[in-house]
Amino acid sequence: MCTFFEGAGQFVSNFYSLPGIWVIFGALQGGKVGLLHIFVTFSCIFMDFAYKCSMRTPFPKGFIYKPEYFDKNGQIALLDAVAHAVRGDAPFWQPTMPRTGQPLSVVMSNFGPLGWVTDKDGGYRYETRHPKTGKIWPLMPQALLDIWDDLTDDPAPPEACLINWYREGSRMGMHVDLDEHDVNAPIVSISLGDPARYRIGGTARGGTTHSLKLSSGDVVVLTGEARHCYHGVDKLFYGQSTLVPKGGRINLTLRRVNHIPKT
Ligand code: SIN
Ligand code: FE2
Repeated sequence: MCTFFEGAGQFVSNFYSLPGIWVIFGALQGGKVGLLHIFVTFSCIFMDFAYKCSMRTPFPKGFIYKPEYFDKNGQIALLDAVAHAVRGDAPFWQPTMPRTGQPLSVVMSNFGPLGWVTDKDGGYRYETRHPKTGKIWPLMPQALLDIWDDLTDDPAPPEACLINWYREGSRMGMHVDLDEHDVNAPIVSISLGDPARYRIGGTARGGTTHSLKLSSGDVVVLTGEARHCYHGVDKLFYGQSTLVPKGGRINLTLRRVNHIPKT
């Protein structure tokens, strides 16, 4: 239905806006407003309305969804890079909440010059080194630098790629990413493995939210208003994909942390 309204509606939206059309219809009816004239007018108004409705999205402005951005080989290559990093200097570790020390339900690692970490005493922050091994984070894979260039117009590269591993029952509470100095730079988020239900609301906590099932290879970009909106993952469809060797879902979140230095 949507496709029909998109095609026909786009045509009608353009056609209907031409003032000459009214004159032609009037002439066809011998200068009188006849039934045909009324029928065509109301059909046009309806099609125009349906077209505009079909173009409306419930997601905030600046929310970009790219389904199946990575094909199977692209997904496997990213998972190989993750496996290499976590077998080496950047093993998954269990992050904890500031103050309470409550463990998050995901385990984490990072790529890039900066990595996002959290613990009871230090809270949410970016660090140049892994909290357990003390090693610098593994280099950002080229495929991640490439997707940033492709999907954002940010002139500087991402500085951090947070690797979240969702295992059975893992979720991510509603939050806004605010630990960056530059909170206006876009965020690019890649899904690999099991599907998950992603939820996004408005710039204030609570209120209406909308959800979207993210599958392996899908990418979401938060820019503009969406960059400041509450979002989270409220359900993991555990076991629906066999792509992650130990099961679950890997999410890669690319962020710019610092303002671009002035030259
Ligand atoms: C996040 O926003 O931190 C993660 C989102 C996701 O896992 O898709
Ligand atoms: Fe986030």
